[in-house]
Amino acid sequence: MSLGKIIDKKNYDLSKRIDKQKVPEHVAIIMDGNGRWATKRNLPRTYGHKRGVEVLKEILKASKKLGCRILTVYAFSTENWTRPTKEVEFLINLFSEVLKNEIEEIHEESTKIKFIGDLTPFPETLKKIISSSESLTKNNNKFLLNVCVNYGGRQEIVKVAKELVLKCSSGDIKINEVNEELFNSELLTRGIKDPELLIRTSGEKRISNFLLWQLAYSEIYISDVLWPDFNEFEFLKAIIDYQSRHRRFGGIESLEDESFEDSQYSS
Ligand code: IPE
Ligand code: IPE
Ligand code: MG
Repeated sequence: MSLGKIIDKKNYDLSKRIDKQKVPEHVAIIMDGNGRWATKRNLPRTYGHKRGVEVLKEILKASKKLGCRILTVYAFSTENWTRPTKEVEFLINLFSEVLKNEIEEIHEESTKIKFIGDLTPFPETLKKIISSSESLTKNNNKFLLNVCVNYGGRQEIVKVAKELVLKCSSGDIKINEVNEELFNSELLTRGIKDPELLIRTSGEKRISNFLLWQLAYSEIYISDVLWPDFNEFEFLKAIIDYQSRHRRFGGIESLEDESFEDSQYSS
């Protein structure tokens, strides 16, 4: 059997363990570990970023196949500007290149692409490709791919707070009308349901300023695999793990509830 067939079979065997009724609709991913992957191979960090793009394509396919509807990936944080200029420039060029090469297929697959973050500091060329890709795919409704670039969760929250203060001071809204729903409606992710699952690769156990508001009740899965080595098999493992979780949202499960009542109050 060829390597490709063995991999397909491994993925197929794992996918049979997935409950199709409980597939997360929205998965968010912190694609981390590109630099370490390259450094381990004595390669420049940029090789890791390039390889990472191939992995994103594989995971996008895998999540569609599984029945997810939304994938939100962290591609560049507001803090990533502190990296060496050469790496930042490489990433910016990579975003343009990848988008140019992939947009046709993304559109053919009826996928809508959205960029989330403050695009202002990016060069005009990238801004133009982003805007034409977003407008080309805006009516696609099979799948939504959100790419977070120059994104920071705290910056997003501050931005919303400023907008609401402005609306209050101009009299458009009253302070008592400010609630979670209104706040949500001002976020960059407005109209998009919160992720049920957050995956972070490379073993780091932190959120690194990603979707701070939206992840309030997401299940978190940490994979030790570096992003350039992540694949459909690892993604399916994350989904299976997610399906074993008991999401309580601050409540208690009915069974525990009954046994508590039995032991404390009965007789
Ligand atoms: C994630 O990989 C990609 C970006 C942040 C752009 P890193 O570049 O952070 O890789 P490590 O974490 O240094 O290995
Ligand atoms: C988070 O990874 C940002 C992206 C994956 C784009 P980082 O590598 O920048 O995060 P830290 O520095 O490990 O927290
Ligand atoms: Mg990193």
